[in-house]
Amino acid sequence: MYKKGFTSQHNEILETDLPVQGKIPKWLNGNLFRNGPGKFEYPGQKLVHWFDGPAMINRFSFKNGKMSYQNRFVRTEIFKKSFAEQKMSAVEFGTDPRPMWKKLTPPKMSDNVNVNFLKINDDLLTITGGMSTFRIDPDNLETKEQYDFGDNMGSDLQMTGHTPHPSLDTNTGDVFNIGNNMMKNEYIFYKISKGARKREVIARVKTKQLSDIHSFSTTENYMIYIEIPWFLNKSKLIMGGSYLGALEWKPEKGTNFIFVHKKTGVVQTVHMDKAIHFGHTANAFEKDGKVIIDMPFFNRSNINDMKVDYVLEHGQTTKGYDSFSRFTIDLETEHISIEKISDRFIELETIYYKKYNEKEYQYVYGPSQLDDSQFFDRLIKIDVVNKTEKEWYEVDTFPSETIFVPKPDATSEDDGVLLTVFLDGKSKRSFMHIMDAQSFTELARIYLPQHIPFGFHGQFYQL
Ligand SMILES: [Fe+2]
Repeated sequence: MYKKGFTSQHNEILETDLPVQGKIPKWLNGNLFRNGPGKFEYPGQKLVHWFDGPAMINRFSFKNGKMSYQNRFVRTEIFKKSFAEQKMSAVEFGTDPRPMWKKLTPPKMSDNVNVNFLKINDDLLTITGGMSTFRIDPDNLETKEQYDFGDNMGSDLQMTGHTPHPSLDTNTGDVFNIGNNMMKNEYIFYKISKGARKREVIARVKTKQLSDIHSFSTTENYMIYIEIPWFLNKSKLIMGGSYLGALEWKPEKGTNFIFVHKKTGVVQTVHMDKAIHFGHTANAFEKDGKVIIDMPFFNRSNINDMKVDYVLEHGQTTKGYDSFSRFTIDLETEHISIEKISDRFIELETIYYKKYNEKEYQYVYGPSQLDDSQFFDRLIKIDVVNKTEKEWYEVDTFPSETIFVPKPDATSEDDGVLLTVFLDGKSKRSFMHIMDAQSFTELARIYLPQHIPFGFHGQFYQL
């Protein structure tokens, strides 16, 4: 039943009067933007990986107890060309549509932007792991121009990619991110100061072989890139094939925690023999002179399991999943300890980000599943202090990432609601699910007239 989430959605709609089951809190006023692939194939051509489809933006607007919905593809140059020709015309993360003879030349990378959003000043931007960044009109979801950061960091000589998970310093309002340069084998740690657009380089760190960059952590003083042993074989990339096909899992290399001081740019690398693979870190902070990073992790690389054909045949697997754990790093002794918080599978996990990112915190939320589930089929809330969990489950419904929105007068960390898009496997439509985050019970659901393909990340902006 989850398979509907891996089928294309070509309808672009604006629905303003959607029936509400239950009650949307009157205080909930704002827009939830969600990003993800809208399409999985062209005539005679299937996209290989979940990460490959052209970006479709979904906006859920909440006002006075009501919700409206709009969705729209992002009109990138590649999207326009591919739609006009009805075939893929650039290399995506896992799909290289070029004939063999053409694969001997460096590929034209896609300008697809299907992962996340970033707001810089009043500009809403769609972002991805590549350098492409489009500005979107938040009112009608029209695609505007490629965003101009007002610097030269977009040139291939400077940076060839960066994470689609910039990190907000909740004290200063500065935004931090990590990029890489494939030609120079270096990671680039940079920031965008509050109110600015320009990316300022804090440090460049050389490495023997680049690892994939998808997310990273920040604390009050540090940016921390976790270099997992999933390395990019550049000759494979140059000789043809997708980015995914050029990544090699080398567990014997262990894991490097690369710390860069936000202010001084001083670099310290702490090595761990254990090889881990992860998608996202939940949170990180400093305590008693140590750095703490919480995250779910695998003992193997699982990204090939997210190829569309594989997921449709076998479901989403938890094989090799270890746990949601706390990594405590002592920068004096360079000792790393790992303490299990929960055995439960969790991915795309989120926190009350705007207040607790980089701070000691208590709650993590996210989609989960059991080892024999076929896909995410429940939401969980992990209490990282007491090491307990709560769960919300309804048969044949499949959640995506959930976003916490605090009450305006919130008195505790979980005093607010969780907004989640679920796919209803029976009706083959998606619905917006609103939960009370504290009691972990449903407050309302609003069915859409159609389904939304399984997406990745979203951001809520208060009105
Ligand atoms: Fe992500």
